[in-house]
Amino acid sequence: QPKIIIDADTGIDDALAILYGVKSGKADIIGITSVFGNIPVELATENALKVLKLAGLEGQIPVNQGAAQPLVRKVDLFPTFVHGSNGIGDVEIPHTAQRPVEEAAADFIVRQASELRGELVIVALGRLTNLAHALQKDPELPSKIKQVYIMGGAVRVPGNITPTAEANIWGDPEAASLVIESGLPITLIGLDVTLQTMLHQSHLDALKASCKPENRDVVSFLNDSMQFYFNFYHESNGYNQCAPMHDPLTVLAAIEPGVVQTEQLLLSVECHGEHCLGMTVADLRPKPSVGTPVNVGVQVDAKRAVELLLGVF
Ligand code: BDR
Ligand code: CA
Repeated sequence: QPKIIIDADTGIDDALAILYGVKSGKADIIGITSVFGNIPVELATENALKVLKLAGLEGQIPVNQGAAQPLVRKVDLFPTFVHGSNGIGDVEIPHTAQRPVEEAAADFIVRQASELRGELVIVALGRLTNLAHALQKDPELPSKIKQVYIMGGAVRVPGNITPTAEANIWGDPEAASLVIESGLPITLIGLDVTLQTMLHQSHLDALKASCKPENRDVVSFLNDSMQFYFNFYHESNGYNQCAPMHDPLTVLAAIEPGVVQTEQLLLSVECHGEHCLGMTVADLRPKPSVGTPVNVGVQVDAKRAVELLLGVF
């Protein structure tokens, strides 16, 4: 089983991604690190803790708080219209007695990478700030990590937060650039594949009827929180009672090889442009020469992905 740290700005789809990871039975989720993004970092920490309690795992998986701000920029606005003001679609779930551990997210990543001797897998579902800090603390990190799966980027498709950029990369382009260029073994799960992986209300209706009795509260939370996400995607993209599974597909790619097909491309992150800030630029010319080799998700068996995702509940 892969040993995974999930790094998340726990919003609606991050929550489903975490729940899938811990319920899959096919991965050892050794910790969750939090990062600002969909919401401030303190709320991301709190949501990760609450989601673990909901999964019946209170006190069993450490949560380490990470970055509150990007590497060099400043944020003071958070996209409450996408994930709700509490980050999980304004759905209330019980608080937990579990507290975040003292060790900062980047230190936890550095320590686990050393202790696990090449076995650690990181799944990053938000801004790449914690990973960038970890690289700054330990320049040898790239040789110690098995694989990093990143939900981020838009290679052959438009962006979502701007015409050219996807939100996780745009939200800290300097961190993303540092991570991409670091030599870490990276699989980028971007909008190219996540926008094809749609969860529909009909899937949730079926799941409510078929889920295991012990997962009823989890499924009812998924259903309720997704209403907010579906509404956002209705207003922004014109979708009808459905939403793309950005973060869940990224955890799935780490656990279920073969569902997402990748292609090695040379990639760079734009950190200076006016119109293209945060764009993931692949050198798609016949003889590519600019950028760092990265495995980029290019195709997905979306039907299978959603089946596998919901099958764990
Ligand atoms: C990404 O941005 C966030 O809103 C989602 O959680 C996902 O990680 C999609 O662009
Ligand atoms: Ca996310």
